[in-house]
Amino acid sequence: MGIWSRKPLSRLQNEASEDGEHSLRRSLTASNLVLLGIGAIIGAGIFVLTGTAAAEHAGPAIVISFVLAGFCCLFAGLCYAEFAAMIPIAGSAYTYGYATLGELFAWIIGWDLILEYLVSASAVAVGWSGYVVAFLHRIGIDLPANLTNAPYVVEGTGSLVATGAILNLPAVLLCVLLTVLLVIGIRESAAVNNMIVYAKLLVVVLVICFGASYIDTANWSPFIPEPTGKPGEFGWGGITAGAGVIFFAYIGFDAVSTAAQEAKNPQRDLPIGILGSLAVCTVLYILMALVMTGIAPYSELNVPHPVDVAVSKAGPALSWLAMIVDIGAIAGLASVVLVMIMAQPRIFYAMARDGLMPPAFAKVHPRFKTPYVATIITGVVAAVLAGLFPIDILGHLVSIGTLFAFIIVCAGVLVLRKSDPDAPRSFRTPWVPWIPLLGILSCGYLMWGLGAETWMRLVIWMALGFAIYFLYGKSHSRLSAEK
Ligand code: ALA
Repeated sequence: MGIWSRKPLSRLQNEASEDGEHSLRRSLTASNLVLLGIGAIIGAGIFVLTGTAAAEHAGPAIVISFVLAGFCCLFAGLCYAEFAAMIPIAGSAYTYGYATLGELFAWIIGWDLILEYLVSASAVAVGWSGYVVAFLHRIGIDLPANLTNAPYVVEGTGSLVATGAILNLPAVLLCVLLTVLLVIGIRESAAVNNMIVYAKLLVVVLVICFGASYIDTANWSPFIPEPTGKPGEFGWGGITAGAGVIFFAYIGFDAVSTAAQEAKNPQRDLPIGILGSLAVCTVLYILMALVMTGIAPYSELNVPHPVDVAVSKAGPALSWLAMIVDIGAIAGLASVVLVMIMAQPRIFYAMARDGLMPPAFAKVHPRFKTPYVATIITGVVAAVLAGLFPIDILGHLVSIGTLFAFIIVCAGVLVLRKSDPDAPRSFRTPWVPWIPLLGILSCGYLMWGLGAETWMRLVIWMALGFAIYFLYGKSHSRLSAEK
């Protein structure tokens, strides 16, 4: 029975109020939450993967991929909003899983969220490194290529091939530096965070506004390039494969739910934060994709700094903007890595307190009052991955893992409507069961498009997770011990 045990809603509420670490000041308003979401969303997805996905999968039709992935996130976002308003507790999807589908599913989501947070910290760090290299080159400093690239890339067949490079050193250094800052407990001040988010938004808006007048419509023709015959390369297959890849760009709206205990009026404002940040980013992404593929031929965007390349294509008139793009990306992407390396230990912490992970993961530093063991483990693993692998392998893994977590959240809404139909819900997902079902189907469809190798990696990751749960978590679970 243990693996199916559910944590009662009332108990979750009690745990939240007992938990000293989370009895934070309720200071965030609806607009703060929208801004928080945008801060977590805009990152390497739009700044890097848009270019690679257009060049390798969809061409200018990457715009359609953005619309598809946006719908998929809308369905999942509506399900997240119901949970976040109902269980406004920091553990996010892991907690929702525990309340609805039972311990095994909670574990699966928690294990899967490692792909969403830890691995995306690595992916975004690699994106950051690309813009650092581009910026330094612009001011006349060239870093050696074998210290700024991944030693392995994926070949057409999906196998890893050595590139001759040693390490992506800037990406490693960023992960290490941010980990140190998080261990000694810098509290990112809301003011600095807001400034970085505004700066990112400004860069995106400037690229859209100034870039629009340099669009050459010939670059959009053909809008959907002919399929090459290889799965996922152009045509409709390319559009869906592209959607699976740039889905990464939308990840982060769910991070709003982790601020549940700091929201002034979580029941009302969490849905606004989740859906509002998603809406703003969807519109910006579609416009940005149109501008990027309109200024530069899509085949030229397969670089580590495609927004810079697209803007530079407009000629000297926009060289000031290319510089701003680099600086905005460097600040903005670093802030995403910080959020991810900060979020991961919170999930480890929640899992360790439930007994599903060793107690060391919940250890708080006596002086700095931070979950230092979990933070150091997160930072070291993120640094190693960022140093060794290119952004596409990491990004695809993040996308497939997060899509899988979204499917479980959508299923959770269906289950909870049946098992606890009368529990108060201040936000109700509309058109149940259709929206959760569409969420499950659309996320599943995008997962499908990500290709066999990425599936293989997910299967290996989940198998490892099952082994750990059955060898450790199941027998150490606090909930089972009490029953
Ligand atoms: N959505 C985040 C990014 O694109 C993870 O960097």
